[in-house]
Amino acid sequence: MSASLSETGSRLSIRMPFDMHHHVRGGETLKIVGEMLAQRFAGAIIMPNTQPPITTAAMVEAYRAEVIAATGPSFQPLMTLYLTDTLDPAQVRLARTHHGLAGIKYYPRGLTTNSDSGVANPASLWTAGSTPFEVLRTLADLDAVLLLHAADGFAADGSELDPYDQETHFVRETLPRIVEAHPALKISVEHLSTKEGAAFMSANQSAHLGCSLTAQHLLLDRRDVHRGGFRPHMSWWPIIQREEDKLALRDLAASGSPFVWLGSDSAPHPIGKKETDCCAGGVMMVHAGIELYAEAFDLMGALDRFEAFAALNGPRFYGVAPSDRTIDLVREDWVVRQTFHITSDEPRMDEIRPFRLGEKVAWKLAA
Ligand code: NCD
Ligand code: ZN
Repeated sequence: MSASLSETGSRLSIRMPFDMHHHVRGGETLKIVGEMLAQRFAGAIIMPNTQPPITTAAMVEAYRAEVIAATGPSFQPLMTLYLTDTLDPAQVRLARTHHGLAGIKYYPRGLTTNSDSGVANPASLWTAGSTPFEVLRTLADLDAVLLLHAADGFAADGSELDPYDQETHFVRETLPRIVEAHPALKISVEHLSTKEGAAFMSANQSAHLGCSLTAQHLLLDRRDVHRGGFRPHMSWWPIIQREEDKLALRDLAASGSPFVWLGSDSAPHPIGKKETDCCAGGVMMVHAGIELYAEAFDLMGALDRFEAFAALNGPRFYGVAPSDRTIDLVREDWVVRQTFHITSDEPRMDEIRPFRLGEKVAWKLAA
């Protein structure tokens, strides 16, 4: 079975995709997200930056059960642990052997939502004898994946980096050291956002090094984010960069590389966390989680490479079988109308605003 594109290019049938980077959250939000996620995706990498973060095999198992309760049993949650300075390698082994662990997520401390428990010093990833180093050795041993939030907060001299330079610095200074220290480890660079990142991936991609791309980084550049005033509902970590970065990411997505795949980074926050003094990074994307990517691939003239990107490359890298189900998409405008409601006593904490609210999406799930 392979993808089929109708003669007019306005209908597409692909294997059911996998979302290799998704924040499903918990409680009522998870219920809302789970339904929309399972409609579009056969499975997803479930991010561990909950509160508290997922740091034990028992937490992995409990969270997996919660996810399945929200998505239904045909959905495949690919679970992750949160790398802290004290994560226990024995827990990694246990979670991998018994609880569907796909990988471990590295968060640089303080650089994104719920990253306070992240690794304090990136050098511990390549310094033998540190706990994170031992965890990565265990991970390689278990043939599981290290997922990198590819950002540095500080330069070697201790000065704070410009937020637009965090990924570039990481790709130049940190990523090569991790790769060199752990040659047997599978590494996925998450939500790539810069042309330097794209160039590094083009030059170094392999069965041990790949990356995920979001729809927002393929569709937007910072002119969109700042047009008429700053738009908190276009605020993510990593930050949306320049047009030239967007174009380099599009080239990478359209290249047909087997080491580049879909990771939406859908990350819902209540409006009260977005329209406030300090806006949280992250936006709900799942309501159009595959449709926005179809729009991007259509724009790029690369719909013939869409199925591999969305449904085959990610699972193959992680050693997961692709889905034998399919989904159909049609090129048809629809307007995002629905906001999502959760229970809260606090003002504006009871509503989640999805990406593109009140605006058009160019592709639609076929009925
Ligand atoms: C994510 C979140 O809200 O959990 N936010 C984001 O801007 N992407 C965290 C993350 O993936 O960095
Ligand atoms: Zn994320």
